[in-house]
Amino acid sequence: MTCHIRLFLAGLVKAVNTAVDLIVAHFGTSRDPGVKAKLGNSSVSPNVGHLVLKYLCPAVRAVLEDGLKAFVLDVIIGQRKNMPWSVVEASTQL
Ligand SMILES: *[C@@H]1O[C@H](CO)[C@@H](O)[C@H](O)[C@H]1NC(C)=O
Repeated sequence: MTCHIRLFLAGLVKAVNTAVDLIVAHFGTSRDPGVKAKLGNSSVSPNVGHLVLKYLCPAVRAVLEDGLKAFVLDVIIGQRKNMPWSVVEASTQL
């Protein structure tokens, strides 16, 4: 892999890691499974929906959008194809 692709992937991994850390920290506030279930219920804990929407979704979207446009389509497939089938093709080849 070329250097700029490595840096690009490292940035995406960092963004996803940050999102996952925040969500794990959210659930880590209790060891009680019943309380954990409530922590995951966005109508009881709106904060969890906020964490997912604000941090995890943009990180995943960045992986899919930028990853496919700048990296997967050109480097792995070698040509641009229509989304979203290329997402499936690319992820199976990865
Ligand atoms: C989430 O909490 C609400 C309010 O207590 C409850 O009505 C609902 O059934 C819960 N949802 C889940 C998936 O447990």
